[in-house]
Order: sequence, then structure tokens, then C-alpha cells
Amino acid sequence: MSAKDRLILALDVNDPEEAIAIVERFSDWITTFKVGLELFTTAGPDIVRRIHERGKKVFLDLKFHDIPNTVVRASIMVTRLGVSMFNMHASGGFEMMRRTSEAVVETCLRENLPRPKMIAVTVLTSISQEEFKKDMGYQHGIRTHVKHLSALAHRAGLDGVVASGHEVQAIRNSLGKGFVIVTPGIRPSWSPPDDQKRTMTPREALRNGADYLVVGRAVLAQKEPEKAVELILLELLSS
Ligand code: C5P
Repeated sequence: MSAKDRLILALDVNDPEEAIAIVERFSDWITTFKVGLELFTTAGPDIVRRIHERGKKVFLDLKFHDIPNTVVRASIMVTRLGVSMFNMHASGGFEMMRRTSEAVVETCLRENLPRPKMIAVTVLTSISQEEFKKDMGYQHGIRTHVKHLSALAHRAGLDGVVASGHEVQAIRNSLGKGFVIVTPGIRPSWSPPDDQKRTMTPREALRNGADYLVVGRAVLAQKEPEKAVELILLELLSS
């Protein structure tokens, strides 16, 4: 996969016109754009169609977490939008993931649709080890939990997981090459962590075995965003 295909740019804005302007502005460098909660809430499914019309792919990052029936039905709707990737929380449970993956595969076969990559969110990159134990009440560490949830998602038939760069190696070692790992919380050495706690540079994340890197503020919050994206791509190319 080329460096360009690995980098996913997060459209973390709420104005559809601004989102489309970003897609057009970064069209030479980026193949896949991530539509998250903020943009989808204001712009709706139409934003996905508009990005597709520009020849680009969409990662729909709505992080579904609900009872199996609800997630199955929402995932079928997402599949019909033709996104290349979407996600759900692995902590929604095995049954939720298994039924969703089966329903999406069936829908694609029946309606002759391209099959989106189904990805499970493990532990958010904004959660620190301390918060995980103290506030969320887990006795074990984040890495153990991420490995456990990844294995569960794999068994349920999902294509991969979202995980921080710190857990990528452990997942890769236990689940092998074909399992997709999407890594947000990417911060080149020159950008601040913001609210992210488990960050990693593009080079480190790639070396650890991540397939896709999600970047948002490390590009869009910079004074010269084009230069930032070029620097990140260069870092990936030289890894
Ligand atoms: O600006 P920044 O690069 O931190 O943005 C990261 C993006 O990735 C945000 O859109 C966020 O919602 C998303 N994300 C994340 N952690 C996850 C899954 C998605 O930060 N576990």
C-alpha cells in the first residue's frame, strides 16, 4: 500500500462546505477522508455522497455502540452509502459484532454492493492508563484489554480494529498480517498532543505495524497544512 493510501484525514469540522473545501484542497495527497460524529450530525449522509463524487473514499467513524439489532440495522444503512470503512465499539460485545458482520456480508451479496471494512474501536487513544484503572475500574492494563477486544473482533468476523500506536505490535503479533489496524492519536514530533494521551509519531506507528494512520489536528490545526501533510507523507515514505 502506498503512503498516500495509508494516511486518512479526519474532517473534524461541522460545515459541509468547509469539509468539501478540505477534500478538494488535499485531493493530491489523500485518498480516504474520515467523516466523524460532528460532521455527520450536521451534514448527514449527503456529505458521504459529495466526497464520493470527488473520487475519494470515506471512513465513516460513527463508533456504533448499541444492542445488536440496532447496530445491525444502522450498519446496513451505512453499507448502502458505499463507504470503504466504518466502525463500532468492540465493547458493544461479541454478538453485536458477529451479527453485524454477517448482516453486512449478506447485504453486499444480495444487493451487489462493495463490502466495507468493518472495524472495532478498542480503547480510545484519549484514555490514559491511570484513567482506565481509576475511573473505568479495570484491574488489568490497557494493552491486555486492547488485545482481548481485538481477538474478540477477529473472532466475530470483523476486518480489523482501531488502536493506539502503543498496542499495534501486540495486536499484530497475536492476530497476524491480514488483520487491519487503524491508528489515530498520530502526532509527529513537531505537533502538540492536544487531548490525546496515547500518541505516536507516524514513523513509529508504521514501524509497529499499523496499516492506516488517522490524522486530524496534526494537519488541519497547523499554520501550513499542506506542508504538514507533505512532511507526514515524507516521514512515512522514509520509514
Ligand atoms: O486531531 P486528531 O488527530 O487527534 O484526531 C483524531 C481523530 O481520530 C478524531 O476524529 C477522533 O474522533 C478519531 N479517533 C480517535 N481515537 C479513536 C478513534 C477515532 O482519536 N480510538
